[in-house]
Amino acid sequence: MSTDIYTASVIGGSGFTGGELLRLLAGHPGFTIQQATSHKFTNKSFGFVHPNLRNIDLRFSDPETLDPVDVLFVGAPHGVSMDRIDAFRDVAETVVDLSADFRLREAAQYDEWYDGHTRPELLEESVYALPELNRDRIADADFLACGGCNSTVTIMGLLPLFETSILDGDEQIVVDVKVGSSEGGAEGGSASHHAERSGIVRPYAPTGHRHEAEIEQELGTTVSFTAHAVDMIRGAAATCHVYPDSFPEKPDLWKAYRSVYGDEPFVRLIAGGGGVYRYPEPKVVAGTNYAEVGFELDERNERIVVFSAIDNMMKGSAGQAVHAANIALGLEETAGLEFPGLHPVGAP
Ligand SMILES: NC(=O)c1ccc[n+]([C@@H]2O[C@H](COP(=O)([O-])OP(=O)(O)OC[C@H]3O[C@@H](n4cnc5c(N)ncnc54)[C@H](OP(=O)(O)O)[C@@H]3O)[C@@H](O)[C@H]2O)c1
Repeated sequence: MSTDIYTASVIGGSGFTGGELLRLLAGHPGFTIQQATSHKFTNKSFGFVHPNLRNIDLRFSDPETLDPVDVLFVGAPHGVSMDRIDAFRDVAETVVDLSADFRLREAAQYDEWYDGHTRPELLEESVYALPELNRDRIADADFLACGGCNSTVTIMGLLPLFETSILDGDEQIVVDVKVGSSEGGAEGGSASHHAERSGIVRPYAPTGHRHEAEIEQELGTTVSFTAHAVDMIRGAAATCHVYPDSFPEKPDLWKAYRSVYGDEPFVRLIAGGGGVYRYPEPKVVAGTNYAEVGFELDERNERIVVFSAIDNMMKGSAGQAVHAANIALGLEETAGLEFPGLHPVGAP
């Protein structure tokens, strides 16, 4: 276990996930913040943009001038990493990218789901950075690509069904994700304007969401995916409707989920029981790196309903990035990430 202290910089430090990275790095025993960049806010204090970070006496710097650093976290829009990857890897021993630029392994997938790829020869070098899926590969990696928030919440829900062969990839799976407005980033857009967003449950990607490609790549199966924008700021909640060939008993399903997630530090299994919070809910994990996963059996229709919930900016991006960096650098895996969320709390 390394007790070294590593330098870390954040490209896109003024963005939503950049702010979360800075919050995590500031409280992390294994990192010191070297630099955080922003074109718009060069020379402004972190607290000018992220008021929760007013206690950090550092300022944003120009993204074109990068200091040498141990770890470079990149929280920039899609396309930036693929354009600047050589410069990023020149200054940093380890690059952790939060964008979609290096998540997919096949260039053809970028042609199908995005606008192509300018550095397809590098796609095989990056490692999909979801620790529950790829811990061993992350441990040797110096180039990590964090999963998308919708993909992460879906994969977290379904992974045990594949790892324990309850599903083999031929079954029908319907995924419905509900996600908060911070998914769209700090710039937002007309759909994120308060007047347009408030009070909504709006299907924004009924079919053809780009994250389908990641889910299919990582789970080895097709899923029918729909996303709704809902009236919350943080959070992604997936409901997966699964029709297995052989319908399991509930104790067998518990056994399967416990066998895969029992030792996972950032997964909490919540399925039924008493009280108000009987299934995963994003509000419960807001601000944390935890994923909650649960399920119920619909015997009448031979359907498994799987529920999973994360904070899109934490387990779905910045938290996942720091978790993966901890593993890659040989730090304590949970370092800087073990704090719980708030309760009671208003809509996050
Ligand atoms: N929001 C989420 O829930 C979420 C979840 C998973 C993954 N992601 C991914 O994470 C990345 C960041 O998302 P976000 O929501 O944090 O976006 P955001 O709030 O819009 O922030 C983007 C950041 O990138 C900077 N930036 C813009 N153009 C740049 C360029 N050409 N070079 C360097 N920096 C540039 C912006 O500041 P300046 O323009 O001032 O430099 C800003 O700091 C995206 O690729 C997104 O898909 C986001």
